[in-house]
Amino acid sequence: MKLTDTYDRNLTYLRISITDRCNLRCLYCSPGDPFPRLSHQDILSYEEILHLTRIAVDLGVTKVRITGGEPLIRKNIDDFLHKLRQISGIQDMALTTNGVFLKTHIPSLIKAGLRRINISLDTLKPDRFRRITGVNAFDQVWEGIQEAFHSGLSPIKINTVALRGVNDDELEDIARLSFHYPFHFRFIEYMPVGVSGEQTSAPLYTPEIQERFAKRIGNLMPVGHHSSDGPAERFKFDGAVGEIGFISAMSHHFCNTCNRLRLTASGQIRSCLLSDHQEDIRTALRAGASDAALSDIFLKAARTKGRHHTLNTDTPADVTGRMFSIGG
Ligand code: 5AD
Ligand code: SF4
Repeated sequence: MKLTDTYDRNLTYLRISITDRCNLRCLYCSPGDPFPRLSHQDILSYEEILHLTRIAVDLGVTKVRITGGEPLIRKNIDDFLHKLRQISGIQDMALTTNGVFLKTHIPSLIKAGLRRINISLDTLKPDRFRRITGVNAFDQVWEGIQEAFHSGLSPIKINTVALRGVNDDELEDIARLSFHYPFHFRFIEYMPVGVSGEQTSAPLYTPEIQERFAKRIGNLMPVGHHSSDGPAERFKFDGAVGEIGFISAMSHHFCNTCNRLRLTASGQIRSCLLSDHQEDIRTALRAGASDAALSDIFLKAARTKGRHHTLNTDTPADVTGRMFSIGG
């Protein structure tokens, strides 16, 4: 049996959140008010995650991404990644980080077999970084990005959530970095998930950003789409070494090609980031369920995957899960 949903999408990509904790409080992700975090017993152990990943791989998963919260704050992540990389059937292993602790981790991450990394960067201004994330750590992130670059990790993807009135005056400066760095800069439409305290001004969507780039920087030339690209539409400026991508979950949802399942830090399988439906696999795992029974829970979760999200409709479903616990 393979993980296929009721709309014939093959779910081959598992995003694994290894912690709901984060050292930052990005305003589009973490609400300002204290939100209860999971206790140690609630979080899947690395052994448990590896066990569930092996089952998912038997069901057809070939790509995994480690997310959080902030994955680099969980202890012994290198050893975990090394074991994850050993699972035969995993062709692609990637990590998403806020970059604050990246610099010192790079050698061990590479040793563990990591090649692909996504780093969040919403501003190039240290004081604004502090306003967006609550922490004065721009320099650390920038050093982490430089270290990743010099270490040969490739591709390095830079995630920028586009927020009107917050960082939209800088999007061109970030895009212009593609003339100097061979990174994939990805501009992400803000998704109003949970109570993230944002969305006070009009949303800023991809077409408007593309227009600004075309007017002020140059033509965006499409880059051929690769099956492993995920939802980003890819472009390049003439003469640039890096790429520009757009992730337009709101203005142009890409649900029809979505191949993802998510495993949360507390052992819930979510078939869609933008739906609260989840299947509890932790209880069965800890009760000693057989691999066949655990496979059934994965298959059941796959069947619950909706055709598309409703955030951009007149009657959006209320997604109450928090980004830091779902894993973005
Ligand atoms: N909307 C869009 N993207 C988000 N991310 C987190 N919260 C949101 C949101 N509300 C993305 C950021 C970050 C990654 C972990 O998740 O790009 O880099
Ligand atoms: Fe932390 Fe990432 Fe959420 Fe920012 S977006 S608060 S870095 S989990």
